[in-house]
Amino acid sequence: MRTNRRSTSSAEAGGQAGEAASFGSSFGLSITDAQYKKLAQLVYRLCGINLGDSKKELMKARLAKRLRATGCHDVRDYIRNLESDASGTELVCFLDCITTNKTDFFREPQHFDFLARDILPKLDKLCGPSAPFRLWSAASSTGEEPYTLAMVLKENQQCWQRRGVKLLASDLSTQVLEHGRRAVYTMERAACIPRALLTRYFQKGRNRWEGHVRVRPELREIVEFRRVNLMDPFKFDHPFHVIFCRNVMIYFDKPTQERLVHKFHDCLAPGGYLFVGHSESLTGIQHRLAFVRPAVYRRENK
Ligand SMILES: C[S@@+](CC[C@H](N)C(=O)[O-])C[C@H]1O[C@@H](n2cnc3c(N)ncnc32)[C@H](O)[C@@H]1O
Repeated sequence: MRTNRRSTSSAEAGGQAGEAASFGSSFGLSITDAQYKKLAQLVYRLCGINLGDSKKELMKARLAKRLRATGCHDVRDYIRNLESDASGTELVCFLDCITTNKTDFFREPQHFDFLARDILPKLDKLCGPSAPFRLWSAASSTGEEPYTLAMVLKENQQCWQRRGVKLLASDLSTQVLEHGRRAVYTMERAACIPRALLTRYFQKGRNRWEGHVRVRPELREIVEFRRVNLMDPFKFDHPFHVIFCRNVMIYFDKPTQERLVHKFHDCLAPGGYLFVGHSESLTGIQHRLAFVRPAVYRRENK
């Protein structure tokens, strides 16, 4: 679901290719070039995702699910349904099905080590003497990233306990936000959580929840899930000290990335950090952030 092939993470690209290749799921659905173009333009206009000309098969695979859910006969019928839905409900479902939500606990773990080792011990300098430490997971998907942040915070509670902490987790997709709020994961998904942390911060499911774990309340209460479309203007009461926006900018074209990074700059506190995915360098776009280390940038201290 992106045009800049060089920066696609291989796992993500592999997943999409596999999905598009499994034709069983699109049931021979046909989509004309004009219909594809119309839907791709809608996706670009509403959420910045640049499908380009080459994601027709992927679009088909994902649309097939919406056609089944809405009872539409074909893509023409579906587009008519989408256009006549004044409530906007189907539009939200359509965008939900188009987004790629691949994520993991402790994905790109160096970022969490850097947070624990280099940022948390110096919060007085970053936040001032008493302000709460504010973090934002800006494309949180199903919650693995913000709950990983919450675990790192809990493990280093002495660094922020006095001042408090606020952790916002946001995404465009309502479905993934709901999953994050529910905070239930299969054991398979939880496999990359170190055992001691799994025991400390997760409850084991029983009976119908056998094979699942649920994030314990003390971790859940740190995270606030909210729908934010990164294409919209941001308005927050207080600046953030840390923003994680990882593995979503790869879906945006350069001008969209540039606008987004400017907006992040403006809602970071002086000295605040922006983390991007390791396959998403800011090279080639104009921005006012200082490079700290690969995939970590910082707003100047003024
Ligand atoms: C591949 S996941 C990345 C999740 C997590 N940050 C990580 O690195 O593991 C990308 C997420 O970005 C979200 N997304 C895509 N376009 C968006 C937009 N315009 N505004 C907010 N979220 C968006 C998708 O719904 C998806 O959950």
